[in-house]
Amino acid sequence: MTQIHKARNKNSPGQTGTDESAATSRNLEQILKEVDSKFTFEKRDDLAKLVNWSSTKDAPLHRWIRYREAYSPSLIDALGLDGRILDPFCGCGSMLIGAAARGRLSTGIDLNPLATFAARVKSSPLSKREIRDIKSFNKSLPQVLPIDVELWLPEFSVAHKMFEPVILHTLLRIRSAVATCSMSERARDFLHLCWIAILEEVGNYYKEGNGIKYRNVQRRPGKYVAKEDGVWQRKRFGEDQEAFVLNAFVRHLGVMLADTDLWHPNWCEPEIIRGSSLNMPSLTESKFDSIVFSPPYANRFDYFESMKVELWFGGFVKEKTDLQELRKSSLRSHLSSDLARDQEEFETLEQLIELMDRSASSWRMGVPNLLRGYFSDIVEVLRHCRDKLDSGACYVVVGNSAFGGMIVPSDTLTAEAGLRAGFREADIWVTRHLTVAPQQRASLAGLEGFMRESVVVLRP
Ligand SMILES: C[S@@+](CC[C@H](N)C(=O)[O-])C[C@H]1O[C@@H](n2cnc3c(N)ncnc32)[C@H](O)[C@@H]1O
Repeated sequence: MTQIHKARNKNSPGQTGTDESAATSRNLEQILKEVDSKFTFEKRDDLAKLVNWSSTKDAPLHRWIRYREAYSPSLIDALGLDGRILDPFCGCGSMLIGAAARGRLSTGIDLNPLATFAARVKSSPLSKREIRDIKSFNKSLPQVLPIDVELWLPEFSVAHKMFEPVILHTLLRIRSAVATCSMSERARDFLHLCWIAILEEVGNYYKEGNGIKYRNVQRRPGKYVAKEDGVWQRKRFGEDQEAFVLNAFVRHLGVMLADTDLWHPNWCEPEIIRGSSLNMPSLTESKFDSIVFSPPYANRFDYFESMKVELWFGGFVKEKTDLQELRKSSLRSHLSSDLARDQEEFETLEQLIELMDRSASSWRMGVPNLLRGYFSDIVEVLRHCRDKLDSGACYVVVGNSAFGGMIVPSDTLTAEAGLRAGFREADIWVTRHLTVAPQQRASLAGLEGFMRESVVVLRP
C-alpha cells in the first residue's frame, strides 16, 4: 500500500508551501493511479452524450419538464440492457420511458415526489377521451379561467419573490381552473405537470449551479447589481404579463399533447415508486435482468434546493419539515443530508481525505464526513441492487469531483463499493473528461485526467 504523507500543514517546518503542494500532488497522483490499477478501464466516447441531459432535453416526452440531472434513454441500446430494468434513482423517468417505448418492463424509484410525479405522467398513456378533454381545455383558454382567485403563497420564506404579482395571479387562475375542471384525475395531473413545467420560464428565478438565481440582478465581476425595476420585467415578460403566462402554458400544453402520439399500443407502463433506495421499498418484480442508475454525484449539490420552487408551488412540499425530511433521507451527496447516519470505512478514501487542504472551505464545511457518508450509501444501495439482480449487470453512471486540492475518484470508489456489496467483477468505462473548477485548477494541475465521468459496470 502507498505510504501516505500526513495532511498538508501550511506551517510544516523545513518545507515551503510550493514544495509541500508539489509533494501532496505527487501523493495524490500515486493514490489515484494505485486505485485505478485495480480495475480495467475502457474508453467509451460513444456514451459521452448519453450520460447527461444534452441529447434528451428536446426529445418528445422528455421535454415535458426540465430535469438537468437526467441521462438518455438511448443508454438502453448503447449498454445493451436486457429484460426487466430497474432504475433505483429514476428521476423524471428517462430510463422508464425508454423501456416503455421499447415494450420492456421497468421499475423506477426516486425520493423526489416531483420527479416521480413527472415520471408517472410522462409514462402513463391517457385515453383518447382524456386527450380530447385536455385539447378542448387548451382551446378554451383563457375563457375558462376564473376572473379572480384568492392569493396563495406556499409557506417558504422567499415565496413572495418568485413571481411578479400579475404572473402569480394568472398562474393561480390556471391552477384553479385545472383543479375544478371535470376531467379524470390523470388528465388533471397532465395539466398540473404542464403548469409546474412553466414556472421557471415565467418566474423571477432560474436554476443555476447548486440553487436558484434571481432575474432582477445581474452578475458583475465579484458582485451582483440590481437591474432597474420595471425595465427588466418588461424586457423579459413584455407589456402584458398575463398574456405571457397564458402563452407559455398554451404553448407547452400543445407540445405535451403533440408528444402523446408516442404512447403506442405496445407501450409498457412502468412501476414507479416514491421512496428511498437506501431502504429498498417493496417492488412488484422481485428480480431484474439489468439495473442502471445515476446517483446524485458527490458534489454537494442539493437537488431539493434547486427544485424548491416547483416542490412548494406544485404542492409536493407543504411544510418546512417535509423538505427537511427529503433532504435528510437523500443520498449523502450534499451537506443538508443526514451526515450522522452510520458510515463504513474506505481505506482509499481516508488516504485521500488526509491530503485535503485543511484551510479549504470544503474541509471546514464537513466535506470529509460527507464523502464517508456518500460511499457508505453507495455500498448500501449496491447491496440492494446485488440482491435484486437476476442476471445481466448493474451500470452506475458517476462523475468524479474535487475538493480542497483533492480528487474524489467516484468511479473507482464505486467499483470498490460494488465489490464490497457482493458483485464479483467491476469494470470502468470512461465516457468523457470533466473540467476542474477554476479555484481547484492550480492545485490539480497535471491531474486533470482523473476528472472523469464514467459508467461503472458491476457483474454478479
Ligand atoms: C442524477 S439524478 C437521476 C436522474 C435520472 N437518471 C433521470 O434521467 O431523470 C439522481 C436522483 O437521485 C434521487 N435521489 C437522491 N437520494 C435518493 C434516495 N435515497 N433514494 C432514491 N432516490 C434518491 C434524486 O431525487 C435524483 O432524482
